Amino acid sequence: MIRQHRFIKLTKHRLAHRKGPVKIALNGSSGKMGQLITKVANELGHEIVAEINRSTTKYDFMGTKPDICVDFSVPTATVKLCAAAAAFKVPVLIGTTGLTDEDLHKMEDFAKVIPILISPNFSVGIHVLRKLVWEATKRLPNNFDIEIVEKHHTQKRDAPSGTALSILNDIKNIRHDSTGVFGRCGKSEYVSGNVGMHALRGGDVVGEHDVYFFGLGERLEIAHRATNREIFARGALFVAEKFYRVNVPKLYNLEEVL
Ligand SMILES: NC(=O)c1ccc[n+]([C@@H]2O[C@H](COP(=O)([O-])OP(=O)(O)OC[C@H]3O[C@@H](n4cnc5c(N)ncnc54)[C@H](OP(=O)(O)O)[C@@H]3O)[C@@H](O)[C@H]2O)c1
Repeated sequence: MIRQHRFIKLTKHRLAHRKGPVKIALNGSSGKMGQLITKVANELGHEIVAEINRSTTKYDFMGTKPDICVDFSVPTATVKLCAAAAAFKVPVLIGTTGLTDEDLHKMEDFAKVIPILISPNFSVGIHVLRKLVWEATKRLPNNFDIEIVEKHHTQKRDAPSGTALSILNDIKNIRHDSTGVFGRCGKSEYVSGNVGMHALRGGDVVGEHDVYFFGLGERLEIAHRATNREIFARGALFVAEKFYRVNVPKLYNLEEVL
């Protein structure tokens, strides 16, 4: 009964979205992700009403009133965008990674005025991987050592990836004594509770994440491979179609909207 009710709600929701295009202000429009967002948005019948990139000096959305800002840029540009979005009362969906604690504090302030969603990964598969890692961390004894390896293309600016950091955070929420250790070099003794984080960079790798649980006599591996970055654009727009209707100012995560 509950399922049926949820299905009816979802169906109505989807039908409601076919009524009109979502007006999007796109930060990082000239970038790899920005171009894909534009392509997929056009396919879905949405409208990019303002394109923002490095050459933009005035964050006024070019005189338009967007329904939502979508951001795939760099952290400094993300902060500028959020300041403008707060002034114009437009919700923001952030895909940019590498935000510092200081940036996040600023986001918390902007989120007192507008809804802001931050997700370092809009792939459906990663969403499930995080659930599986959560389950494995909960169920396996603490003497299973956890290590995270991520691989990305050479143009990626931040390391480890925002996704790897989110996975580490999920693990810390279960094993409170866990500490991320970023690469190992030289004398490096084993310390129980350390979660090794390893970032590989090369070629055109779209994004790969492996989480290892090493036990004595057995090993569990949970892996995800992104082979086409369009999945991130499709995922982000799927979420944007829902999120632009949210009107309670707050910092959201993907879980709360999906
Ligand atoms: N959440 C996810 O699912 C997901 C998936 C993939 C990537 N990402 C993240 O999305 C971000 C963008 O990735 P990308 O591969 O598209 O990068 P990219 O190709 O380097 O594009 C970066 C964009 O940001 C703009 N930009 C750079 N510096 C700027 C500044 N100071 N002010 C304003 N705009 C500026 C660039 O404009 P110009 O062309 O004018 O320089 C360009 O449009 C990265 O943080 C990446 O990690 C997230």
